[in-house]
Amino acid sequence: MNQLMKPSPEVSTNAPLPEALRLMVGKPVDAIDTPALVVDLDAMERNLTRMAEFARKHDVRWRPHAKMHKSSALAKLQMRAGAVGVCVQKTSEAEAMVAGGVTDVYISNEVIAPAKLARVAALARTLAGLRGKLAIAVDSIEGVHRLGAAMAGSNAVVDVFVEVDVGHHRCGVLPGLAAVSLAQKIGEHPALRFAGLQAYHGKAQHQRSILERRAAISIAIEDVVFTRKLIEEAGIPVELVTGAGTGTLVLEAASGVYGELQAGSFLFMDADYAVNERDPAAPKFEHALFVKTQVISLQADHAVCDAGHKSHAIDSGLPKVHAPDAEHALEYFNGGDEHGVLRVAPSGGRLPALGQFLWLIPGHCDPTVNLHDFMIGVRGGLMRGQVERIIRVDARGALT
Ligand SMILES: Cc1ncc(COP(=O)(O)O)c(C=O)c1O
Repeated sequence: MNQLMKPSPEVSTNAPLPEALRLMVGKPVDAIDTPALVVDLDAMERNLTRMAEFARKHDVRWRPHAKMHKSSALAKLQMRAGAVGVCVQKTSEAEAMVAGGVTDVYISNEVIAPAKLARVAALARTLAGLRGKLAIAVDSIEGVHRLGAAMAGSNAVVDVFVEVDVGHHRCGVLPGLAAVSLAQKIGEHPALRFAGLQAYHGKAQHQRSILERRAAISIAIEDVVFTRKLIEEAGIPVELVTGAGTGTLVLEAASGVYGELQAGSFLFMDADYAVNERDPAAPKFEHALFVKTQVISLQADHAVCDAGHKSHAIDSGLPKVHAPDAEHALEYFNGGDEHGVLRVAPSGGRLPALGQFLWLIPGHCDPTVNLHDFMIGVRGGLMRGQVERIIRVDARGALT
């Protein structure tokens, strides 16, 4: 392996699969020990196909956010389905993707530390050698200079997107002249190429009503159009506007302004996204990520399962109990690190039996995946299916 392709110590792309997991392939779902992160492969592939069809219909590129699944195997699957590459948020996530064979990576985030920028430059050289491509976002003159200095003398060129704050109020320059100055500065560095605008509105993704999301994204689009015009008036072409998440992709895709969609969660769909009022124009994405758990204790008015918040993230709310059958409607309450407390839902039903397996739909897929080394891919459904493959979360813990 090329020295430069070595992942950072945070990632484990090449570690052998644990024996117990290897032996699980081909076994029925009942054989999956709990708690475990399970992917319903049939549902995931339907989500993938729907996304590919949607992008084709709207004539936009899609570059799914791999910070969601943190798996180079799933990134490559997405590219085989038509994605132009993937986004990542961190340098070490980019390293994990490249080490896993992904050759078109966009760090949709700001990187400032010189030590990290040296790694970014090394990745750009590796990808250039593989006829691949690296891109990155900036939102400061200092950031451009540091990136330019790290890339100086390299034989590679990195694509640079200027991030504009279109309402998320996280990173990004204000719409307008600040973006023009950044585009001009990028042009002063021979190893940097101004590639366009990064315009992601994160807060809009989880606004519950269609009307709220439409209002937020129409302002974002106005901000982008205004900023793009100023940059073009300065004689610099703006090739691409990239952004959008699962909650608003319909709006950016129809805008005629955004040329690339960065949605990530659509592949797994968490419980929080299920609360959004669904836009009928959006593809029908299904839940494909579950935590399999087992009832380990039964009390008079509640049951206790073996999945607590070390198995699933709770920043966007507690998981929902997947209930194919209304008679078993249960509500999940946090029981701590290793426990979940299950009570019968107000709509009625009965408690599960001791030892019964249950499936939880996590509140937020990205941080849930980051709690696990592996995802277990199941084919044929959660009740009667079989384990088909083990998916390594090779960018798990890749935070630098
Ligand atoms: C910059 C950026 N783009 C795209 C996404 C994808 O959003 P989602 O997973 O909600 O589709 C995110 C998620 O936080 C993000 O930060």
